Formats: sequence, structure tokens, C-alpha cells
Amino acid sequence: MNFKTMSLISAVALALPTLGMADADDDSLMINEEIKIVTKASAPAHMDGAVDEVMSGWHFRADGTQAMQMDDFDNPGMLGVETGEDIWNEVDGSEGKSCASCHGESASMAGVKAVYPKWNDSAEKVFTMQMQINDCRENRMGAETYKADKGGSIPLEALLASVSRGMPVNVATDGPAQATWEQGKDLYYTRTGQLDLSCANCHEDNYGNMIRADHLSQGQINGFPTYRLKNAKLNGVHSRFKGCVRDTRAETYKPGSDEFVALELYVASRGNGLSVEGPSVRN
Ligand code: HEC
Ligand code: HEC
Repeated sequence: MNFKTMSLISAVALALPTLGMADADDDSLMINEEIKIVTKASAPAHMDGAVDEVMSGWHFRADGTQAMQMDDFDNPGMLGVETGEDIWNEVDGSEGKSCASCHGESASMAGVKAVYPKWNDSAEKVFTMQMQINDCRENRMGAETYKADKGGSIPLEALLASVSRGMPVNVATDGPAQATWEQGKDLYYTRTGQLDLSCANCHEDNYGNMIRADHLSQGQINGFPTYRLKNAKLNGVHSRFKGCVRDTRAETYKPGSDEFVALELYVASRGNGLSVEGPSVRN
């Protein structure tokens, strides 16, 4: 870490009464007393020892926030899942079909979210879950596509995450996806903005530390979409990336851009071995 990074982090940390190393806690996450969530796992080999263990952002939140995720009745993100279920069953577009017409019950999608982003052969590119949903809408339903992180994207993504909860994230980093993955990795380690910070400077070098009033996590995305108490809605991965890039005072990429797709694949792969946890609850 260079001097600038250190001074930023210590300046904000020193300004805080809550200063201190507040490491990830040792609590364990069980949802509805039945879905066991793996929130700590050995780091995937591709991380080359950058960290020993990968951890869900859940460990870095206060007890009250953590508790909201332990029961679906207390998790405000589950309202988004309900909306997603309605959309799943709703006929739309020129072909007179709903998602359910072809895919049956949403529960039949269990396991799918765990492997996205994923290479799509016919499109010859990496698809995020939202891109796959749009592909079905456009080419199979004759319906309009959703904008990134808007409209039905987030509720449907939340629905598909919820039916995979507890399953291990396992995105492929090799084969045809490798070039995109490398691009994402480059972005992750590139310093940007006036503060000259990379994702890694905060989420790899400083997780566990306080920055402003926030307890820094590893910036994992196994819990997305995420219900944030701050804006009281479900948030998509790219919107979160945008906020973090903006915090370095850099120009940011757009949600849905090739850069954020690549970054999503790379960050997802840093969570290989953690459970799918979305919709999660965060600050
Ligand atoms: C007319 C039939 C049809 C409709 C309607 C349809 N899909 Fe699909 N969907 C498919 C087919 C066929 C595939 C697999 C082929 C492919 O990869 O393109 C697929 C693939 C998928 C996948 C990826 C599965 C995997 O294992 O990677 C997801 C997720 C998905 N659809 C979601 C949806 C959603 C959400 C809707 C509603 C907005 C929807 N689909 C509507 C036919 C349909
Ligand atoms: C200046 C420090 C800083 C930088 C640089 C930064 N972030 Fe963050 N990020 C934060 C803070 C603070 C939070 C909120 C607390 C937390 O969850 O870590 C956060 C949260 C996140 C989350 C949400 C984690 C969860 O569990 O919901 C993700 C994902 C994330 N960041 C990814 C990134 C990516 C990718 C980059 C690089 C493009 C990046 N961040 C750059 C400070 C930073």
C-alpha cells in the first residue's frame, strides 16, 4: 500500500470514535432455521494467497443487521423476491409467454445463480444473470429488455438468488470466460480517481478496518442483490461497484457496461466456495 492509501485510511479511521480493528465475527448464519449458509471458506487457488480465507460481508455487519437476514419475515429483501415471483408468472411480449411457460416453477432454477456470470455459447460472451434474463425476454418472449439494475432485473435476480441460497458459488474462470475474467482482475487491481485507490486497496488490504463509519468487508457479491438500509431497497452489483468507484473520486463505468460485467465475473470468482446468500441485508 502506498502512502496516500495509508493516509486516507488512517485519516478517516482516526476521526472515528469507533476506531479499532473490528475483525470479522465468528457468528454463523442459518436462514429460517434450515438453510445453512457458508460465510467463510478457504480462498480459491486463483487468489494466490492474497487472503487465506474469503468471508461474506454478513460478518462485518452489526448484530441487528445480521439478524434481519436470519428469517425471511424479517428480511425486507424478500419483498423483492415476491415481486420477482409475480413477474416470473406474468405473460409479457409478442409470444404470449411468461418465464414459467418454459421454465416451470422458479424453484427449478435452484443452482443456476451459483454459476453466474457464465459464458454463453450462442452470444459468444460472458452473461451476467441479468443479461441471460434479457436474452430470454428479447429472443424467447418478444418482450422488452430491462435496463441494468432496473425494472424487473433486480426482483428476478433476487428470486433466482433466493432459490439457490446455501449452494456454493462456483463460477468458471477458465475456458472461454478466461479473457473476460482477466479483464475483471485487471480492473480490480487498477488504482483510480483522485484518491488513487483500487478495489484491492480497500477490500483486500484493509478489510476488518473502519473507514468513516463503515466496517470494511472483502467486498464479496455472494449476497446480491442486497437490501441496503441506507437506501431502503434492493441493490444490484453494478450499482454497488459504481458507488465504490465514485468514492475514489473517479469517473465510473455504467451499470451493464462490458467493464462491470468483467468485474462482476472476477469478484464473483473471489467468492467461489461461499454460499449464495441473496437477497442479503447490509448497511
Ligand atoms: C420460450 C421459452 C423461454 C421463456 C419464455 C424464457 N426462457 Fe429462459 N431459457 C430458455 C431456454 C431454451 C434456455 C436455455 C438456452 C440458452 O442458454 O439460451 C433458457 C435459459 C435461461 C436461464 C439460464 C439457465 C442456465 O442454466 O444457465 C435463465 C436464468 C433463464 N432462462 C431465465 C428466464 C427468465 C427469468 C425468464 C422470464 C423473464 C425466461 N427465462 C423466459 C427458454 C425460455
Ligand atoms: C475507499 C475504499 C473502497 C474502495 C476503493 C472500494 N470500496 Fe467497495 N466498499 C467500501 C465500503 C466502505 C463498503 C461498505 C462496507 C463493506 O461492505 O465493505 C463497500 C462495499 C462494497 C461491496 C458490498 C459488499 C457486501 O457484502 O454487500 C462490494 C461488492 C464492493 N464494495 C466492491 C468494490 C469493488 C469491486 C471495488 C473496486 C471497483 C470497490 N468496492 C472499491 C469501500 C471501498
